[in-house]
Amino acid sequence: MKIGVFDSGLGGLYIFRKLLKYLPAYDYIYLGDNARVPYGGRSPELIYQFTKRAVDFLFHKDCQIVILACNTASANALTRLQRKYLPENFSERRVLGIIIPTVEAAVEENFKKIGIIGTRATIDSQSYPAELKKLAPEIKVYQKECSLLVPLIEEGELEWEGLDLLIKKYLKALPLTKLNGLILACTHYGLIGDQIKRNLPTRVKVISQGEVVAEKFKSYLQRHPEMESKLDKNSRRTYYVTDLTHRYEDLIKLFLVNHFKNAKLELVNI
Ligand code: DGL
Repeated sequence: MKIGVFDSGLGGLYIFRKLLKYLPAYDYIYLGDNARVPYGGRSPELIYQFTKRAVDFLFHKDCQIVILACNTASANALTRLQRKYLPENFSERRVLGIIIPTVEAAVEENFKKIGIIGTRATIDSQSYPAELKKLAPEIKVYQKECSLLVPLIEEGELEWEGLDLLIKKYLKALPLTKLNGLILACTHYGLIGDQIKRNLPTRVKVISQGEVVAEKFKSYLQRHPEMESKLDKNSRRTYYVTDLTHRYEDLIKLFLVNHFKNAKLELVNI
């Protein structure tokens, strides 16, 4: 069986790249719902419905575990999927999110004041402050939604000077001189991590989710041999998108750097 990795679009590729680096032997299916991206401005109910469809598709493609490589989906759909959809439909399989591993990594850093940037739906869900409060109630949390970044990244505008202006505008809303750390709580932002870092005081440590999620997932598999033993290890990768254009294909190849060789990209209707 396979590992499914889901995002609304290209952002999950950032996580996927790191999974392939740290856990290359497994068979993976990546699904990007680019026909409906961005999810970040949508209601929790709609995000849940979209995410449920995506997870359902991946389970029917023989995935044993699905990673929601999307904060917006993790914040708005994960709990409901785990409490209702999974027990009723696929009780032997697992859906994992990326918020708790990220929060654990931030707590391990011993930050006293932490900034969080993400989509509107992630910030409005208050998932990050709630999870941080459970593990380290003393940490002060400052959040800012950055709604316009995902559309620009989906357009591949990574080097445009307008992107830099926008990052400056969003970061200005945070008390940068007080922060010890900043969580990039949107997988898309991993693709512009360098552009974000150059607009921050060097003292502020950036938590970007790629490495964090891959490392925590590796330890999850070690702790759950009953799941790990079901996974195929033929290094096969399949990529599905819900809208396919030449431009999108080129962007996927760009973001996957060398990992796309011999891989198939297929259009699906979910
Ligand atoms: N990549 C998704 C995340 O981590 C957000 C993209 C979107 O708005 O669809 O939140």
